[in-house]
Amino acid sequence: MSSHLAATDNILNILAQIFPDKDLITEGDELSLYGKDWTRVYEPNPLAIVFPRNTEQVQSLVKAANQQSFTLVPSGGRTGLSGGAMSTDQEVVVSFERMNRIGDFSPVDRTVQCEAGVITEQLQQFAEQNDLFYPVDFASSGSSQIGGNIATNAGGIKVIRYGLTRDWVAGLTVVTGKGDILELNNGLVKNATGYDLRHLFIGSEGTLGFITEATIRLMRPPRHLAVLVLGVPEFDALMKVSQTFQDQLDLTAFEFFSDKALRYVTAKGDVAKPFETESPYYALLEFELISEQTEEQVMSLFERCVEEGWVLDGVMSQNETQAANLWRLREDISETIAEFTPYKNDLSVTVSKVPEFLNGVNQVVTQGYPDFEIVWYGHIGDGNLHLNILKPDNLGKEAFFEKCTQVNDAVFDIVAKLGGSISAEHGVGLLKKPYLHYSRSNEELGYMHALKQVFDPNGVMNPGKLLG
Ligand code: MLT
Ligand code: ZN
Repeated sequence: MSSHLAATDNILNILAQIFPDKDLITEGDELSLYGKDWTRVYEPNPLAIVFPRNTEQVQSLVKAANQQSFTLVPSGGRTGLSGGAMSTDQEVVVSFERMNRIGDFSPVDRTVQCEAGVITEQLQQFAEQNDLFYPVDFASSGSSQIGGNIATNAGGIKVIRYGLTRDWVAGLTVVTGKGDILELNNGLVKNATGYDLRHLFIGSEGTLGFITEATIRLMRPPRHLAVLVLGVPEFDALMKVSQTFQDQLDLTAFEFFSDKALRYVTAKGDVAKPFETESPYYALLEFELISEQTEEQVMSLFERCVEEGWVLDGVMSQNETQAANLWRLREDISETIAEFTPYKNDLSVTVSKVPEFLNGVNQVVTQGYPDFEIVWYGHIGDGNLHLNILKPDNLGKEAFFEKCTQVNDAVFDIVAKLGGSISAEHGVGLLKKPYLHYSRSNEELGYMHALKQVFDPNGVMNPGKLLG
């Protein structure tokens, strides 16, 4: 028996001591299923999959990984787009899907305890049943999990009004890379007792430790949400429309998508075009329609935008079903274009720099990708733009990604010049790691590496992700 096989057998024996048979997978198709996320770039190659039932079991696993030198990859709903939950090198994948209980709920504090594997939609529904609201939302909320959302500081479609996942985390239980259990912030609103390690773990992509439980804040639900979709003739007009509406209304969303994105979604036949007028771009606005006065205000803002030439046409939802269908025009884009193996960029700049940024990047990509289809959409109201390049049928996946990598540098130069981010909400994982230096200085990266060393000195937690 070779020493590698002996080591593998040893690890599998240790896993079998911590996990009963039903919570351990060591062979079959499920290995690759749990070993990958939605990134579609890397080949999954895990050694085993484990399904912990509680924090203590995670702790035993992390301690064993340190003692026996094996590595761990955390796995939530596997909806990530940067390879943060990919196992490519015989790691043990830790799936949180069996830690999916919603625990203590405090109506007074408006907080609820969630295990890491609670699905986003499960939490949203729990909040609704208690006349409350969990405002972080995105197309993948039916499968993404709270632990993964926190580990990537997930954003989504309501950030403009309600902020990111970070803003709703009142407390965390984590198992550090050293195998310690930390209870962070205990659900407190105020806590001025020094470093807030909770925030260090939010967005750390499982590289410092694994989140096993969270205390999540809830809020009063918004009332009578209405959706307005507007046809917009050019990039610059999008931000003028955003400014005009936001000066007078507290929008809960301001999204955009290009005509190409709309065509792909409507071609599937499930949802119709919002109106007949052809428009290069579309803006989707959502707001609380609480009085007749608000409706009049919306109409007069719309008319003003039309007079200025910033809007070509528009439609407003008259009921919840219409609102949901208008939302699908935006929310169905990602899944619809997935079959074209898109090269995904998730970029952000401050809102004031969006016009300069959009024009600069658009110029670079139309020159850099003369033969490729470019699909724009995103959360433009908070400065986050999704730039997707579609793979032509006649080009192999590797050649396509190679070509995209060449154009990346020109795009990221603009991001860096404007002080933006090369990954606004999709994380770094494996995919964006080579480009981190465009958004983080060498000094800052040095501190990040030092922190990794403190929490995970043996490098057992999600190796190769974020920092490498
Ligand atoms: C979205 O906004 O639709 C998601 O971030 C997914 C994507 O960018 O494709
Ligand atoms: Zn997005």
